[in-house]
Amino acid sequence: MSAQSKEILVSRSDIARRVQELADEISRDYAGEEILIIGVLKGAFIFMADLVRSMSVSCQTDFIRATSYGAGSESSGNIVITKDVDLEVKGRHVLIIEDIVDTGLTLRHIMDKLKLRQPKSIKVCAFLDKRKRRKVPFEADYVGFTMDDGFIVGYGLDFGEQYRFLPDLYVISTGEDGKKEGDQ
Ligand code: IMP
Repeated sequence: MSAQSKEILVSRSDIARRVQELADEISRDYAGEEILIIGVLKGAFIFMADLVRSMSVSCQTDFIRATSYGAGSESSGNIVITKDVDLEVKGRHVLIIEDIVDTGLTLRHIMDKLKLRQPKSIKVCAFLDKRKRRKVPFEADYVGFTMDDGFIVGYGLDFGEQYRFLPDLYVISTGEDGKKEGDQ
């Protein structure tokens, strides 16, 4: 497939099982309410598609895109919203869907921006969580899998825009960072 060696970390069947568990938990927590689901592009697109179809609560969907300028695999902290939410946030139950929380800088920035629009509530559902790598304190409300270090691809997550399409989750050894500026 490419020069990077990769090994499977979570299979598609384990992913499907966990996504259903998260969807059940979210459906219980928001029973009788309508949620505004906001996916963080691009990495969350597959997770979000699976999650909303497994939930039993009514939702509207929108997307946001944040870019972290700077070289390397980590957020530089200089984060800019390059595609904003189109739907009204005020007074809504907002659930942000993210592929992975790493340093926490991206979600911290997005949360702070969206909170200014006075949602009724705001929570985060992250498919993956690399807890040990935080640069700012950040706790997601729903987490699919907690990971240690390692660069993860597949199920929407990329390395230099490759691998998003893979149905399973892999950890790759890259030697060097593959995330260029702008990737999320
Ligand atoms: P944070 O601001 O450091 O939390 O960065 C979160 C973003 O970094 C995610 O939305 C991903 O786009 C990217 N990212 C961090 N770790 C990985 C990884 O292991 N694989 C793919 N993307 C990653």
